Amino acid sequence: MGLSLSFVMFMQFLFLLSLLSLVSAGSFSSTQPLCHDDESFALLQFKESLIINQSTSAYSKISSWMAQSSDCCTWDGIQCDENTGHVISLDLSNSSLYGSINSNSSLFQLVHLQKLNLSINNFNHSEIPIGVRQLSKLTHLDLSCSGFSGKIPSEILQLSKLVSLNLALNPLKLHKPGLRSIAEKLTNLEELILSEVDISSTIPSILANLSSLTTIFLRDCDLHGEFPTGIFQLPNLKSLSVRSNPKLTGWVPEFNRSSRLEYLTLRGTSFSGKLPDSIGNLKSLYYLDAKSCNFSVLGRNELTGPIPSWLANLTQLITLWLPNNKLCGPIPTSISSLLNLQILELYSNNLSGTIEFDSFRKLNNLFHLDLSFNNLSLVIDPSTNSTFQTFNVLGMGSCNLSNFPEFLRNQDQLEVLVLSRNKIHGQIPKWISNLSKDTLVILEMSDNLLTGFDQISDALPWTNLQVLYLSNNKLKGSLPIPPPSIFYYSVSNNMLSGNISQMICKLSSLSYLDFSYNNLSGFLPQCLGDLRNLYILNLQNNNFHGRIPQIFMEGCKLRMMSLNQNRFQGALPRSLTSCTMLEILDIGNNYISDIFPSWLGILPELRVLILQSNGFHGSIGKPETNSRFPKLHVIDLSNNYITGKLPYEYFQIWKAMQILDVSGLAYMQTTQVLQRNGWVYSYRYPMILTNKGIKIKYSRIQDFFVAIDLSSNNFEGEIPKVVGNLNALYMLNLSNNFLTGFIPLSLATLTNLESLDLSQNMLVGEIPPQLVELTFLTFLNVSYNNLTGPIPQGKQFLTFQNNSFDGNVELCGNPLSKRCASSEDSPTPPSNFEANQGSEFSFEFGWKVVAMGYGCGFIVGVFVGQIIIKRKSSWFIKFFAIGHPTGRRVKWRRH
Ligand SMILES: *[C@@H]1O[C@H](CO)[C@@H](O)[C@H](O)[C@H]1NC(C)=O
Ligand SMILES: *[C@@H]1O[C@H](CO)[C@@H](O)[C@H](O)[C@H]1NC(C)=O
Ligand SMILES: *[C@@H]1O[C@H](CO)[C@@H](O)[C@H](O)[C@H]1NC(C)=O
Ligand SMILES: *[C@@H]1O[C@H](CO)[C@@H](O)[C@H](O)[C@H]1NC(C)=O
Ligand SMILES: *[C@@H]1O[C@H](CO)[C@@H](O)[C@H](O)[C@H]1NC(C)=O
Ligand SMILES: *[C@@H]1O[C@H](CO)[C@@H](O)[C@H](O)[C@H]1NC(C)=O
Ligand SMILES: *[C@@H]1O[C@H](CO)[C@@H](O)[C@H](O)[C@H]1NC(C)=O
Ligand SMILES: *[C@@H]1O[C@H](CO)[C@@H](O)[C@H](O)[C@H]1NC(C)=O
Ligand SMILES: *[C@@H]1O[C@H](CO)[C@@H](O)[C@H](O)[C@H]1NC(C)=O
Repeated sequence: MGLSLSFVMFMQFLFLLSLLSLVSAGSFSSTQPLCHDDESFALLQFKESLIINQSTSAYSKISSWMAQSSDCCTWDGIQCDENTGHVISLDLSNSSLYGSINSNSSLFQLVHLQKLNLSINNFNHSEIPIGVRQLSKLTHLDLSCSGFSGKIPSEILQLSKLVSLNLALNPLKLHKPGLRSIAEKLTNLEELILSEVDISSTIPSILANLSSLTTIFLRDCDLHGEFPTGIFQLPNLKSLSVRSNPKLTGWVPEFNRSSRLEYLTLRGTSFSGKLPDSIGNLKSLYYLDAKSCNFSVLGRNELTGPIPSWLANLTQLITLWLPNNKLCGPIPTSISSLLNLQILELYSNNLSGTIEFDSFRKLNNLFHLDLSFNNLSLVIDPSTNSTFQTFNVLGMGSCNLSNFPEFLRNQDQLEVLVLSRNKIHGQIPKWISNLSKDTLVILEMSDNLLTGFDQISDALPWTNLQVLYLSNNKLKGSLPIPPPSIFYYSVSNNMLSGNISQMICKLSSLSYLDFSYNNLSGFLPQCLGDLRNLYILNLQNNNFHGRIPQIFMEGCKLRMMSLNQNRFQGALPRSLTSCTMLEILDIGNNYISDIFPSWLGILPELRVLILQSNGFHGSIGKPETNSRFPKLHVIDLSNNYITGKLPYEYFQIWKAMQILDVSGLAYMQTTQVLQRNGWVYSYRYPMILTNKGIKIKYSRIQDFFVAIDLSSNNFEGEIPKVVGNLNALYMLNLSNNFLTGFIPLSLATLTNLESLDLSQNMLVGEIPPQLVELTFLTFLNVSYNNLTGPIPQGKQFLTFQNNSFDGNVELCGNPLSKRCASSEDSPTPPSNFEANQGSEFSFEFGWKVVAMGYGCGFIVGVFVGQIIIKRKSSWFIKFFAIGHPTGRRVKWRRH
């Protein structure tokens, strides 16, 4: 995922530190003694022991060291004592040095050294030599990012004068000695920088005794246990990072005004509790990052309430990063006093009220403004134009706009433009095509009233566009053709017509293609097979006809294909077996004429198979091996012409239907990272299914949804007992067939069943009283069979109406008006059944779902003014999910 910003900043920080130390290197007087021969010799020997990596562009200070110019005090990177002439500082950071180093190195003869900086070189996995103990005058030691590995030797503890110790970014271990020994022995430390060193211990509370500490960087050190709160109160502490230590717990105490804290990141730890309001006391704070901690607000991991008032005190703010919380109320006017603000990210909260776009005009540095998906009304003065700052990211989704904002005409650096969910109507004006022609990567204009592109030919002008999201508009005419860079293309739910042009096949990066719910027609072009990166192909609800072409080849990446509701005919193409990643195949509502495609059973990931309302015929037969359809969750063969017995052999091997797994509340989806800027797009698979008697358009499918619909075919024979093995079933529909025999008792073991339809068959006998134990059963239909005897009473059965039982002349008891003769009073279920099965009928399941629904999302990112952030949005990731009809669900993630 590339470098995260914090890492980049950390590196900048390192450079800044080394820069500062260079600047502070004093001026030397002309009377300074020459350097000592032995030290000069030692330095040259050290030079000899190493190689300069010529393929780096960095200038190597060491290359200026020459035996002829004997005054080593004038050499690059070296500083001598004014009085004694001894070398006291050696700075060879970023000098392209390559080679091994051990205790024999002449370096350790420089015993007067106070500062040693070898950072950003490559010491070829050397251990830190124990010879370092000879440098007993060292106050500053920086070996960061220089290829040292192995154990940090205990000899380091002998450097008792150390003020700054930086061993970060090396594959080092700090075990024996550990952090405790460091805190006990190196009591003068001001800077302790060990990020990415393997420490694997708790943080000793004695660290809070080191009152000189200004900087503690312990990112990604595998720390665990409780963080000593006293460390926050260290009087000189300015920078603290314990980021990316997931096992580290702790809480943040109140801060008082004397705190000098500037930089605080607790991201990726298990800190919990409340972030204290007294953060507003931290006048110097410029960076605060607490994402993915367990901080509660009102007991949830989301910020609620108005935008915290203390934010306005943080006038150094450069970034305000609050997406996906539950912030409500208006955007405070004080936002416009945060003059340094560059990034204002308020995506997906509950903010409301009217806000003048003009109020952002004062924020000259603002280049990322995202107000999308709140309940805001954005008022844009139409005369507002060129005087606006240049934006990279503009999110104005759901901002109550009814026109394209005129000021966009002059925006030539946009990478992201979101105008979705507004009331913008009519043609997309011609000038939009000149908008940020070369820079635009993401264009989202879904859920408006747009009718088409004004004077733009089908080929769209944005040369680097990767995401085009135009769903849910009123677009007419032919399909617009995005550039070859396109990755996500959705025009679903419009009125587009005509054929799919061959030009589509040139879009070689296309991963998500959604043309569903339009009026597109013609054959599918054979060249669609050229789209080798396609994950999603959704052509549902159009007018396509002809055979489904043989476009599936070795290496096919398809995860989801829906051709539902078209006019395809012929047989299913066998080449679909090349699509070994296929999870959902929906061919429903076409004119396919074929036998049951048992060969699809070899697709290892196939989870949803919908073949309803076609011309499938013949009997299903037996699976060839027991490993067919290993992950199948949903099968819908309804409304075909299938004959023979119910496929009980398949019921025995559909393993995924036999195990209820609710370990994660997830939806079936495909997730892909956008190469260009790291936004994550994910597509949640939609599905149409008849459930509880209603045709339902599922906008997303829960991972554990399990259903069988074999209704309206010509199945005959009995309902096999093994159907009771399919423990995870939510829905079973066998209605409208020619089934005979009894309702099997084993149905009572389907404890998750919510919907059971056995209507319109020729079933006989009683309704098993055990069925009353199906706690979740909310829909039952056994009408129009030849059932007899009393209807079971109690529990869920109290909720069913007459029409569940109609058409069985011999049935009696509530809710039917026919009374049972007293001898056939409704039996209660046998008690042994309850004893065996009772414990499974708890509501625990429901609670689990609720508990897991909450995500964790809180981050306030605040960066300092002096550090220049590249004007790019590349460092963050949006997590999008797009589907019908609810549209996107968004989370933010960083990797
Ligand atoms: C030399 O520098 C190049 C470019 O930075 C780097 O890729 C390579 O790994 C370096 N070689 C060694 C041995 O450090
Ligand atoms: C780097 O380490 C490897 C393995 O220990 C060794 O073979 C190689 O000679 C070393 N290179 C240098 C320049 O010391
Ligand atoms: C140091 O040098 C001596 C003599 O040259 C050699 O025997 C010894 O192995 C060296 N030590 C290391 C750690 O290389
Ligand atoms: C650390 O500080 C605490 C409280 O100030 C004190 O009780 C303790 O003795 C100190 N520990 C050491 C080893 O100095
Ligand atoms: C602020 O905290 C410091 C360190 O904990 C403490 O020494 C000082 O007395 C506190 N000041 C106030 C005003 O509470
Ligand atoms: C914000 O600053 C004002 C003025 O300096 C101060 O009165 C107020 O207490 C501060 N608010 C917080 C929460 O620190
Ligand atoms: C949006 O805000 C308006 C007032 O500005 C309010 O009437 C409406 O209920 C809000 N809608 C939602 C969904 O919060
Ligand atoms: C869909 O397209 C066909 C021609 O392919 C046309 O006859 C029909 O009227 C169109 N339907 C709608 C609703 O636009
Ligand atoms: C079962 O399928 C039939 C037709 O195939 C449908 O009419 C009925 O509503 C379905 N039952 C349920 C419970 O969805």
